[in-house]
Order: sequence, then structure tokens, then C-alpha cells
Amino acid sequence: MCGIVGYTGADTAKSILTDGLKRLEYRGYDSAGVALERMGDAGSCELDVVRRTGKVAGLESELVARDDASTCGIGHTRWATHGRPTQANAHPHVSCDHRIAVVHNGIIENFAELRVELEERGHRFASETDTEVFAHLIEEAYAREHDLMAAVRAACTRVVGAYGIAVVCADEPGVIAVARKDSPIVVGRGERGSYVASDVIALIDATRDVVVLEDGQFARLSPDGIEYTDAEGACIEPEVTHIDWDIDTAEKGGYPDFMLKEIYEQPRVVRDTLVGRLSPSGELDIDELGLSFEELDLIDRVYVIACGTSYHAGLIAKNLIEGWARIPCEVEAASEFRYRNPIITPSTLVVAVSQSGETADTLAAIRDARIKGAKVFGITNVVGSPVARESDGVIYTKANKEIAVASTKSFIGQVVSLTLLAMLLGQVKGRLTTRQVRMLFHELGDTAAQIQWILDTQVEAVHKAALACRDAHSALFVGRGMGAAISCEGALKLKEVSYLHAEAYAAGEMKHGPIALIDPGFPVIAVTTRSPTYDKVVSNLKECEARGAMIVAIATAGDEDIRAIADHVIYIPPVRDAFSAITATVPLQLLARDVAVLRGCDVDQPRNLAKSVTVE
Ligand code: G6P
Repeated sequence: MCGIVGYTGADTAKSILTDGLKRLEYRGYDSAGVALERMGDAGSCELDVVRRTGKVAGLESELVARDDASTCGIGHTRWATHGRPTQANAHPHVSCDHRIAVVHNGIIENFAELRVELEERGHRFASETDTEVFAHLIEEAYAREHDLMAAVRAACTRVVGAYGIAVVCADEPGVIAVARKDSPIVVGRGERGSYVASDVIALIDATRDVVVLEDGQFARLSPDGIEYTDAEGACIEPEVTHIDWDIDTAEKGGYPDFMLKEIYEQPRVVRDTLVGRLSPSGELDIDELGLSFEELDLIDRVYVIACGTSYHAGLIAKNLIEGWARIPCEVEAASEFRYRNPIITPSTLVVAVSQSGETADTLAAIRDARIKGAKVFGITNVVGSPVARESDGVIYTKANKEIAVASTKSFIGQVVSLTLLAMLLGQVKGRLTTRQVRMLFHELGDTAAQIQWILDTQVEAVHKAALACRDAHSALFVGRGMGAAISCEGALKLKEVSYLHAEAYAAGEMKHGPIALIDPGFPVIAVTTRSPTYDKVVSNLKECEARGAMIVAIATAGDEDIRAIADHVIYIPPVRDAFSAITATVPLQLLARDVAVLRGCDVDQPRNLAKSVTVE
């Protein structure tokens, strides 16, 4: 979390920094700041540090009064970890002599000891953050080394934790020092200068050829070029990655918000995730599989580990993996999995699901699982992300960049990818024939058109249901089997974007407690698609109806009976139960967004959240 940018070159730095920060706001948006190099009255370089609480737009307004002279600077948009979201805690943080400024993404675990040590040596701290120790450590090292890169390398040897940092020093104008450990850093050279950011999205206007810095690598940016070094200062030649997706992804393209745009992209995500996955002979082709069929055949236990929405994709996968491959499958929040002692053997497959591929708990969990001997398979949206790099095999979800903090299209890509993995395991275990796989694959592909049908025909029905939910204080999402898993994602979406309390419950468990919540008008949102448990869910809804609940049903097109108990019905096309999550989730995404808009919430950047959670 937190986004960092830096630019040094021939152009005005302030607009490049604020434009970059706006694209990185998905990583955090409680405060923002920049440090710009300027010529002082005495003709020497000074650092002009400007910080504001709130979003980047506020910082941008503050910078309007500044002239355009500065051509080198660093910027930051923050998601608070250590220290409240105040101006004093906003980045950049500066050294005592105000000659060095640092922006940081990550967490310094030993900052408390370092702070005491630095204070004993006379350093004065101006914030409550962990980051500020970096500024003072670099200041001390610079006094010895008189070289910014050497000082940054020295400071990095003292800190324990995760960092992506960009540093400027008034005594070396035009230079930005960059270091990385466990937090993403991308560096690129454009025609008009050198750029650094937490994510390519901030520098894609300038260049499509970027270097994704590896842990322990350093970069020295100057207006003339970029030098890469290792921890000892020896020159290295890192791999260059070409970015082939388009900047349109980062624009709203006529939609009022990114969340809606991304919901409407979902038919494409299904199609793209499936492209090239079935060979002409009917074999599943997962080119980044990384595990032989012999290794897969030995698998006797699967753990799906993930966080947030990705965890819910795991709940769907459990049904499929156990159903088709008959392998016991557990789904666990990565933050729990890593702190217990799960039963792992060499025949255990750990499937890590992560849109960003950088969630701290998910990464830590797969590292631990590998040490214990598990095979690890990653499902991620980001090529070359830590989850992809640290897994034996990977399926990319082909959702393209997702900007809205609440995940939608990535979830659909994850479910499609996990469905492929479950089919593959079923095939390898001899429980699905090639003919069955081919048939399932084509039905899976059909979900693209089914999502489109929902988007084309059900928006009005969703809106009426949203109006009915707008003033509620709480809502229950219920279903059975796949419907229970889908409900979890529906409830999370509503909570995230509308701040309306929502809870998901297995419909059959309602009578053991949650039914006590129901009073007249209480919203119950039910997944009542045609499935083996349809009649049971309907019975549970009758119990809710009898107590005055306001029922919104996600039902299968053609089901007119459901209208007898539901106040609002949103239809999805008939679909195999195994694939129902891919379609039935879509109206729930639309509903959550619609309720949020009606309640005046910022759907793309809900309060307190960040898209990429790189802290534990
Ligand atoms: C954050 C995001 C969620 C996401 C979760 C896991 O909480 O706001 O949308 O589901 O992290 O992220 P990952 O990148 O690992 O899927």
C-alpha cells in the first residue's frame, strides 16, 4: 500500500508527479506529498516539501501556486500504517538538515529501536512514522560517504522490513536513489527523463519498457539515464519488461466510475482468460503450469489461501475441486493460515489467489508453505508479481489493470482460472473425461455472453432493488452451496463500497441466529438460482418473508414462482450450478455499486481501504 513516484529530466516535475500519484491513488489516499528540487536564493539546491491530508487533488491545488521550474522530485500517496493520517505523518519525510527527502512504501519493523538509537545521537523526529528513520539513517550515512547511492545502500543494511523507497538529496541535484525489498518498484526511461513508481500505471505515458526492480537491487536515476546496482554497488543489467496493455485501462472511458467500467469489462475477462486454454484435441493447455501431470496426480490435499475478494474466489473453487477432482480442499484466509501449523506434505498443493500478487499475508503464507514442502500454484492478475514469481506454476487472470479498490473483474477472472484448475485436476485424477472437459470448457466460455445478457437486461431491476436497500442499516445475504459462497462476495461488496453493514450466511443456518435480526423491511438478498438446493433456499426465504423481510432474489430467468415471495427479482440466464458464481455475482456487484452511489459514497476509493495490502 502507498504509492510512490519520482521524476528527473527536462520537464516540469510537479505535474508529472501529481498525475502519477492520481493513478496510484488506489494504493492509498489518506494524504499525499511531494519534494521538489529548487534553486534557492543563494544559488544552491533546496528541497521544497509540500504535504496535505486527503486525496492528491488537494495537494495538486496547493501546488498550483508553485512555479514550474523544478525538474526533479518525488511524490507519495499514503495509506496510514504507523501514525495517523496527519500532515506531519504524510510523506516525504526529511532529514534534520532538510537536505534529504524520502518516500516509502512498506513497513520498517525495527523502526522503534532505530528511532531510539538515532534520537540518542541527536536526530529530531517530526512524525510518528516508521519511514522517517530512513531519512535520518541516510543523512548519517551521507555525512560519511558523500554519495547518495552509497548512503542509501548503507541505510538499507540497518532496516528490517519491507520497502520501496525513492530518495532525493539537495547536494546531488537531479539524482533520485531507489531501493527495493518486498515492495514493488518499477523504473523506466522516457524520451524526456527517468521515472520511478510503485506501479507501471504511473509511468506508462512516458515509456512501455520498464524494469521491475528485484529485491536487493538499487537504481540511480538522473536526467541522462539510469544505472542499476546490487547491494554491493556492482553494476547489473536487469531484465526489461515490455508493457503491452493500453492506457485506456487507466481511464474511465465514459463510465461514471471505474467500478462500473470494470463490471462491464467482465465478458471480455472471461473470454481473454480462456483464450488458448483448450488444445484442438480437447486437452486443457495451461502454459504456465510449472507442475507435471505426474506431480499433479500425486496431490492429495489442496489449500486455497487468499485474502478479501480473492478468498471468496477460493470458496467457489473448493466446491469445484472437491466436486470434480474429489481432492479434499480447504480455503483459508492467508493471514490465518500462516500463523497456524497446517498439515502440509510434498503431496499438498497450495493455491494462492491474489489479484495484485503482492498481498503481504498471501506472500508470507506461500513462502512458509514452500518451506514445508508444498507445491504452490498462483492465480494472479499481475505478470511478474511476487506471487507469480514465487509459485511453481501460475494462471494469469487477464483482467488487465483493475483500478477500483473493490475488486470485480479480477474476481471473475479468478473464478474462471480456478475453474480451469479444478477441471485440470479432475482430468489428471481420471474423474473427468476429455469429452466432459471439452463440454465444460465450452459452457464456461458461454458465461461471457450470459454476463452480457445480465448487463443488457437487468440494470433496471438492480436499480429498483438498490432503491429499496438504500436506507437500510444492515442486510443479510443468503444462499446454499455455491449460493452461500456467492453471498459472501455480495455482502463484502456492499460493505466495502456503501458502508452498509452486511453479513453473509448459509441460508439453512439462518434459523440458528440471524433470523432474529429480521423485522419488517429488513433486506435479505438471496441467491436462489436453479440448483440442487433451490427448494431448500425457497423454504428459508419463506421463513424470512413470514417475519416481514424485504427479499431481493437473484433467480434463474424463467422462474416466475420466485416472484410470489420476493419483493425484487434480478434474473441471470440458466447456467450449470458449477458456473453460477461467474454470473450470479454480477448483479450483486451492480447492486452494491448502485446502493453506494445512492448513498453518496465514493465507490472507487472507499474510506479506510486500499487496493493492494502490502502490510500484515
Ligand atoms: C484488499 C483489496 C481487496 C482484495 C484484497 C486481496 O483488501 O481492497 O479488493 O480482494 O486486498 O488482494 P489481492 O491483491 O491479494 O487479491
